[in-house]
Amino acid sequence: MIKKKGQYIRLDTAATTLVIRADTAEYLYYGQRLGGGDIAAIPSAGKKLFSCPGTNDYTEYSLLFESADGGFAADLQFSKARVLAEKPEIPGLPSSYGDGKTLELKYVDAASRLSLFLYYTAFDNSDVIAVSSKLVNGTRKPVRLRRLMSLQLDLTGDYSVVTFDGGWARERQRHERDAGYGIFVNDSKSGYSSHAHNPFIEVKNEYGVYGFNLVYSGNHKETVERGTDGRTRVLVGINDYMFDWALPVGETFSSPEAVMCWAPDEDALSLRMHAFVGEHIVRGKWKRRERPVLVNNWEGTYFDFNEEKILSIAAAAKEAGAELFVLDDGWFGHRNDDTSSLGDWYDNVEKTGGGLASLADKVRAMGLSFGIWVEPEMISEDSDLYRAHPNYAMKLPGRKPVRLRNQLMLNMADERVQNFVVRTICDVIARSNADYVKWDFNRSMTDCYGKGIPSGEYFHRYMLGYYRVVCKITKRFPFVLFEGCAGGGGRLDLGSLCFFSQYWTSDNTDARERIAIQSGTSYGYPQTVMGAHVSACPNHQTGASNSLEARFNVACEGLLGYELDLTKLSEEERAEIASQISFYKENRKLLQFGDHYRLQGKNTAGFITVSKDRNAAIAVVNLLEWHPGDPAPCIRLKGLNPAANYEVSVRGSEWVRCIGGDVLMQADIPLPGLFDFEAAKRWSGGIMSRMYILRRQRS
Ligand code: GLA
Repeated sequence: MIKKKGQYIRLDTAATTLVIRADTAEYLYYGQRLGGGDIAAIPSAGKKLFSCPGTNDYTEYSLLFESADGGFAADLQFSKARVLAEKPEIPGLPSSYGDGKTLELKYVDAASRLSLFLYYTAFDNSDVIAVSSKLVNGTRKPVRLRRLMSLQLDLTGDYSVVTFDGGWARERQRHERDAGYGIFVNDSKSGYSSHAHNPFIEVKNEYGVYGFNLVYSGNHKETVERGTDGRTRVLVGINDYMFDWALPVGETFSSPEAVMCWAPDEDALSLRMHAFVGEHIVRGKWKRRERPVLVNNWEGTYFDFNEEKILSIAAAAKEAGAELFVLDDGWFGHRNDDTSSLGDWYDNVEKTGGGLASLADKVRAMGLSFGIWVEPEMISEDSDLYRAHPNYAMKLPGRKPVRLRNQLMLNMADERVQNFVVRTICDVIARSNADYVKWDFNRSMTDCYGKGIPSGEYFHRYMLGYYRVVCKITKRFPFVLFEGCAGGGGRLDLGSLCFFSQYWTSDNTDARERIAIQSGTSYGYPQTVMGAHVSACPNHQTGASNSLEARFNVACEGLLGYELDLTKLSEEERAEIASQISFYKENRKLLQFGDHYRLQGKNTAGFITVSKDRNAAIAVVNLLEWHPGDPAPCIRLKGLNPAANYEVSVRGSEWVRCIGGDVLMQADIPLPGLFDFEAAKRWSGGIMSRMYILRRQRS
């Protein structure tokens, strides 16, 4: 809800309030929802909505442009404020959607006639506020835009900054540090949101936590700067690294959308972010739909498969109760390893039997849906595509391009290349009649160059091209379930989730490692988007072994799949998997769409998912380490109804007890089964994992 009283504007969500003073371009308040007091009485603390050179402000600027006269200074003065009933779309970029009002503020630099517009959307049913900006060149000469951040939020007080960092196979590890004095930067310069630093960050103090994210999959930058005047400035937007955008007369540059949220603690912030992503980012047919249990052949076969092998895995998948079979990399061109064929999206008839269409039909005849892997933005030098169109590749003239995973990238900033990708990938989906597509992206950008495209515009023009392509393809196949992937979870961001309803969280499928990766991911993203697979033991990334039960329990935090050759398992293991899948399906709605909380204790970590009415919950608790003589681990649950009694049972055991929600959340109680002498005797160094099932007792 937005209420405007003169220059004072109040944006309310159910639990938060943002107060802006339009004429002075100031934030007066952002935090827990205010009562009905006079907002005009809130004292100013000099917290600005935007900043640029030429004013007596020397913290990092949200806006930087060079006018035709060569100057950087701007004096943007208030022009007008209006409340829009419809949220405006951002041309060429994905953004959040839904019912709610948008505040539009306009500031004009009289000398140059440049206008800055700021947008703040308060949705009717979300505590997240969407913010974006645009710059309109109303001058008579072109200007050069060097930086336009989507969001500036000035705060007062001391803060710590939480970021989610990592690399391949160790995505989104949570790190917290004192913001201190000076500038802290979380960013990506690799052309995609990256494994290294996710755009979701938190800025925390003893009164609560602010969460920020960007609806963008390219280079991003989040800075937190504590000045000596007591203000802490947060900037969120496109990275200005190698950014230099020519803005011709009369043209507009729109920033991607940033989002912000305040909550009293990180658990509440996650719930708010999850609800926002589920309701205002993920869209289309799969938005509220339970996601199928899949079997993917990647870790089961890698490139070494033929039709017979694929059909035998699919048959075992069907027997176990899976619903979708996904054919991963290696089905096209002459791709038998990662050195060839990207771009040649035609069937390898030898490996697929009669080709993709007939293989897909055979899989479907078994009663499974069919899914296919593609990596559309790439090109192998050993490919017919490269031989025919070497200029489709992203490379600098006269220089040897950098190969990563033996491949080059396509120059997606070029419309001809975009059209090629749309045409060929649509053809793959249409001819296999695919129900699911895994869209992969396995390298970062190094040789950023496209003929006729200024270097300072390349990164963003790539993203505009990429979004044009995914938008066309996903629109053409509205019933297909798209899962994003980038060497695991390297491009898991809000921009991707506008097109892909789910995302492959990490190539690391080791249960112990996954606990940290999934927990880190869950701070900003809901479990409904996290692909989580049970894979073989010893694990292919770590060599470690974990029980099938532990691997399943950990995968239940996300969207369950199996990524191994089921035909190589024993009868008992296959029976166990069948019972896991049947349990998962029975509890899928709760697991995928319930309120998700992280559980952390001494040497324990896990999660609990609680139904919206708090009558049912499933908790997984993992004992990460155990030493002889250690006391039994105690845990506290979260999100339950303190006034309710729950029947608590342990999956796979006879133990049942009725315990109060208050006790389960407030007392450190040793829950059974997690550790016992029998389990310890069998312990081989893996995690010990238990799943607890809670049902509210009717009194
Ligand atoms: C990436 C993905 C994997 C798999 C391989 C195939 O690494 O993350 O899941 O699809 O590519 O080459």
